[in-house]
Amino acid sequence: SSKSEDSLRSPICCIMGHVDTGKTKLLDCIRGTNVQEGEAGGITQQIGATYFPAENIRERTKELKADAKLKVPGLLVIDTPGHESFTNLRSRGSGLCDIAILVVDITHGLEPQTIESLNLLKMRNTEFVVALNKIDRLYGWKVCRNAPIVKAMKQQSKDVQFEFNTRLTQIVTQFKEQGINTELYYKNKEMGKDTFSIIPTSAISGEGIPDLLLLLVQWTQKTMVDRLTYSSEVQCTVLEVKAIEGHGTTIDVVLINGILHEGDQIIVCGMQDPIVTSIRALLTPHPMKELRIKGSYLHHKEIKAAQGIKINAQGLEHAIAGTSLYVVGPDDDVENVKEAAMED
Ligand code: GTP
Ligand code: MG
Ligand code: NA
Repeated sequence: SSKSEDSLRSPICCIMGHVDTGKTKLLDCIRGTNVQEGEAGGITQQIGATYFPAENIRERTKELKADAKLKVPGLLVIDTPGHESFTNLRSRGSGLCDIAILVVDITHGLEPQTIESLNLLKMRNTEFVVALNKIDRLYGWKVCRNAPIVKAMKQQSKDVQFEFNTRLTQIVTQFKEQGINTELYYKNKEMGKDTFSIIPTSAISGEGIPDLLLLLVQWTQKTMVDRLTYSSEVQCTVLEVKAIEGHGTTIDVVLINGILHEGDQIIVCGMQDPIVTSIRALLTPHPMKELRIKGSYLHHKEIKAAQGIKINAQGLEHAIAGTSLYVVGPDDDVENVKEAAMED
């Protein structure tokens, strides 16, 4: 493989959509976790991040293409809330991703925050795929656990297939009303040109999940090589500022490019002044675990992008979520970096 392919970073994928369409549940299904059931009122109220290593994606997609060649080290997925009051978090999530999954409930079609999410994606020209979720709720759906979607669809009765096609057609029309062409991904030859792909999924029984994962990875590594070529210049965004028992105030960040080291001098935007501090601990959850969920953390001496990271350092109490984190390099003037940090 070529040099650039050897140094691709993991694509960052943001999952967006209307409240309760199944964004967190889809991630639970891939992770084998139960984050959604632990959420207050079943509502996501924070931005999350989960790292999926390539080997897990390979395992999960092997039925589709045993020799699928994965050139990226993994996939970093950013979970966002769908509730109407969290527009800022959807904007933050969509602002740092390479690609997005727009989740639509097949029984509801397009809803207000679907359209809001769509507009955020259009505004930034972000490529996305549509996960048409909850297909297991079609009346009479026969469960084919974790099966590729074409295989699962073949197992369904004529009635189920008819209902599926009727709802799909309605939803394609709703997208068209928003100026967006969509088509079932396995029929979409023009993918990435003008027509966005729809992948039917169930977060409960897992149909379509292999297709979703493979499409995200193959599409990004095929069409976004320049964008995904690893760069040593640190690009990092603060997702959340929070107090964690035993760790003091920490910040959850997404490292988009570059490497962070324990001991690095960093500058983040504060309420009044820039915060100049140094990294005391670099923590990540285990692979396939959610960053925003309290659990056991892995300690690192250094971490390479892309990753979701919890940073422990002094003086982070007044850090502002949504701003960039800067590393002061050996040749940098601290005052200049401070100025850059406060411009956010
Ligand atoms: P917010 O983050 O609060 O916007 O919601 P969400 O989009 O993350 O949806 P969530 O994962 O909280 O799921 C909402 C409800 O739908 C839960 O009760 C899930 O169990 C259910 N659900 C999600 N996906 C599916 C699915 O594919 N099939 C069925 N039958 N239920 C689903
Ligand atoms: Mg959620
Ligand atoms: Na929910």
